[in-house]
Order: sequence, then structure tokens, then C-alpha cells
Amino acid sequence: MVPVEARIRMAWQASIFGEHLGRGSGIGELMDDLGHALASGGDEILMLGGGQPAHLPEVAQVWQQQIEKMVSQPEQVQHVLSHYEQPIGNTAFRRSIASLLQREYGWSVGPENIAVTAGGQTALFFLFNMLAGSHSDGSHRQVLLPLIPEYIGYANQSVAGEMFRGVRPLIERLGSHQFKYRVDFDAIELDDRVGAICVSRPTNPTGNVLTDQEIRRLHEMAVSVDIPLLVDQAYGAPFPGVVFEPIQPFWDEQMILTLSLSKLGLPGTRTAVVVARPEVIDSIQSVTSIVGLANTNLGQALVQPLLDDGEISRLCQNVIRPFYLQKSQLAQAWIRDSFDDQLPYRIHVSEGAFFLWLWFEGLPIHSQELYERLKRRKVLVVPGHHFFFGLDEDSWQHRSECLRVSFSMPEAIVREGIRILAEEVENAYRAGK
Ligand SMILES: Cc1ncc(COP(=O)(O)O)c(C=O)c1O
Repeated sequence: MVPVEARIRMAWQASIFGEHLGRGSGIGELMDDLGHALASGGDEILMLGGGQPAHLPEVAQVWQQQIEKMVSQPEQVQHVLSHYEQPIGNTAFRRSIASLLQREYGWSVGPENIAVTAGGQTALFFLFNMLAGSHSDGSHRQVLLPLIPEYIGYANQSVAGEMFRGVRPLIERLGSHQFKYRVDFDAIELDDRVGAICVSRPTNPTGNVLTDQEIRRLHEMAVSVDIPLLVDQAYGAPFPGVVFEPIQPFWDEQMILTLSLSKLGLPGTRTAVVVARPEVIDSIQSVTSIVGLANTNLGQALVQPLLDDGEISRLCQNVIRPFYLQKSQLAQAWIRDSFDDQLPYRIHVSEGAFFLWLWFEGLPIHSQELYERLKRRKVLVVPGHHFFFGLDEDSWQHRSECLRVSFSMPEAIVREGIRILAEEVENAYRAGK
């Protein structure tokens, strides 16, 4: 791949903000590379690399009906298209979100605890930069990621300077071909340079779901030094609810949750929700008004009726979650069928989200090289090393032995992609290169 610096040259003299955000990123490059491969490879490409939600007909039909209902009411069309909403989001939508959280989990939240943003990515950008980075007392604070590998989308979000402090997990080997990462609490150091703790739950890329006990312990740690625990629930509760383990979602004023409409099949509406204490919500409102004036209205308008009549929970529990669970189980079965049982391959336990995370212990080639070989055979995956950031040491071999495979595409694509992946991995082990 072409180095980022060679691809994007800043016009004039760049500020620190310009340097950090305007010159591209490793993941931006990778996405570009995947996009080019997809565009030039046409129909033959087996795309197991993206984070796109699948097209579920039953879900698509719900959005189609909602749009038709809206179009039949000119005053609603006018409201959605022709009004700047308040930067904090539509009041009725925020009330409906709060009611859903009260009803489903018994949380004591009202609209004052809810802000809308233009997608979860934007919410996290605001929150990270509000809580970490340079402070007026001269200190520089970081976001602690207690379990690396973590979502690559965080890695370049700092407006200035390195922001993340990652912690290596404990690796629990399960049988011959599975494993699970666990938070290594003994390795976490909470000093006064940590401004927030953040986890994605389920985790992108691994499909790990931190246990309720792990979340409680992280919460206790956050309370002990009075910093927020940020939980990114882009795949989690209450929507889209792609969690395969029984967990009890939890929130109190020490926590900030981000929820998103994207994985419900609505990434194009760029709509997310922050659940937090009112002071945080006020700050989000302030940042939104400065950066973007207001949010998009469409996603809020489409989803609100489903929040009120409980349809959203039915869709998540009866359609979306079972769909991805079955996709995950099938993909795991194809891996078991395609890989030689003697090879030291391992699948991270699949507890949620749209991906399988594979570990090839002792793989003689770097995950980037495996990615390139697969690309030559028209299989697109995401090489795992991108997800290991915020760590001090480079010497951890595990970083270059993993791969993320999405299972949200049609079965024939996933199955064939896995078959070719198995061949390439086997070739590399056998040849020792
Ligand atoms: C873990 C995680 N968090 C946040 C996001 C951001 O999603 P969006 O901005 O579409 O809400 C994603 C997108 O894939 C994700 O995987």
C-alpha cells in the first residue's frame, strides 16, 4: 500500500489538527485499498472485510414502510427535510429512547440523559477529545482501552497527540481451536493521566462480549478515580442487540453509553445516541452546535414509532439477533470443515457482532502478507495488526497472527472465502513462509 503521507498532501501549512486528521490514516488506506479491489475485481470479489450490516429483507421492509408512511404525511416530510432540529436531537425521539431504556432495563433516565449525534463515530470523536488530550491545568490525559485488540475506528480520533493507552489481554485457550480474551485487571494502571476508560461491547473486531463481572470491575475502577466508563454498544443492547450471551446491560451516571442506528440497517442515516449524565449531554449539544449546527433528522423520524410501540425490540430479538447468530455458527462450521484439524488455528468465541476473529499461532508470515495473498485470490479480509494500537511494545508476535472475517455477506461468498483462506493459511504453515 502507498504510505499515507504520499497520498494526501496538505495545502498550505497544516495545524496539529490538520496533521492528525487531514492526512489520512492506516485504516483509511486499508478501506481505500479494499474499495479499489472491490471496484476492480467486480463480481468475482469475495468481500469478507467490511463492517456493513447485512440486507435483511424483513428489516428492509420495515424501513420501506416507515418511509412510505412518512411520505404520505406532507407535514412530516417538511419537518424532516426543512427544519434544523435542536443540536441535542429531537425532543420526542430523546423521550422515546429514554422510555425504552426505562422499560427494558429499569434505568432511571430521562431525555436530559440523551443526546443525538451524527453516528457513533462522531459521538466517540467528541467524547474522546472532551475527556482526553491536553487539559488547561497543563496535564495530558489518555483514554484507557482495557482490552486490546479494539475497534480500529478509535485509533486516529485524537485532534492532537497520542491519545490511547491500550492493555494487553489475558488469552484463554479453549479446546484445540477456540480462545477468548479476558481483561487483565492486574495490568491496568489507573494513574492521573487517564481521563476515561473505553470498551466496545460486543467488541469489534473480536466478537468478544465483556462479561457483566468485567464491566462491574471496570466500573468500580472508574468510580475509584472518578472518571467515566465509556461503553460503545454499536452492536449491543438495546439495538441492534447482536449479543449471543445472556448479559445484563448496565448504566449509571459514572458511565457513558453510545448506541447507534447503523447496525439496524440504517448506516446511511448517520444517527447515534449518547446516554450520559446531563452535564455530558449539555457538552455534546455544545460541540454539535459548533461543529455541525444540528444532526440529521431522518433516522430519528424513521425509528421513533418503533421505539414507542416496542417493535424495535421485537425486530432485534426475533429477526436481527437470530440472523447473525446463525451466520456466525455457519461460518464457524465452515472453518472447522475447511481447515486441517492439525493446524494451530483458533477462533475467538463468537459472542456478538458481525465478525469472526481468527488467530494463527506461530504463522510464519505477517497478517499483512496473508491479506495481500488473499487479495490476489480475490478474497478481502481485514488484517488483524490494525486493531492493536495504544500498546508500548512492538514485540508481541500475536499482533501479526490474527485476521478479522466478516460473516454478514451471503453464504456462498463467506463459504468460498473461508475455503480459500484455509488453503492460503495451510500453504504458509507448510512452506514456513
Ligand atoms: C465498535 C464500533 N463503534 C462505533 C462504530 C461507528 O458506527 P456509526 O458511526 O455508523 O454509528 C462502529 C462502526 O462500524 C463500530 O464497529
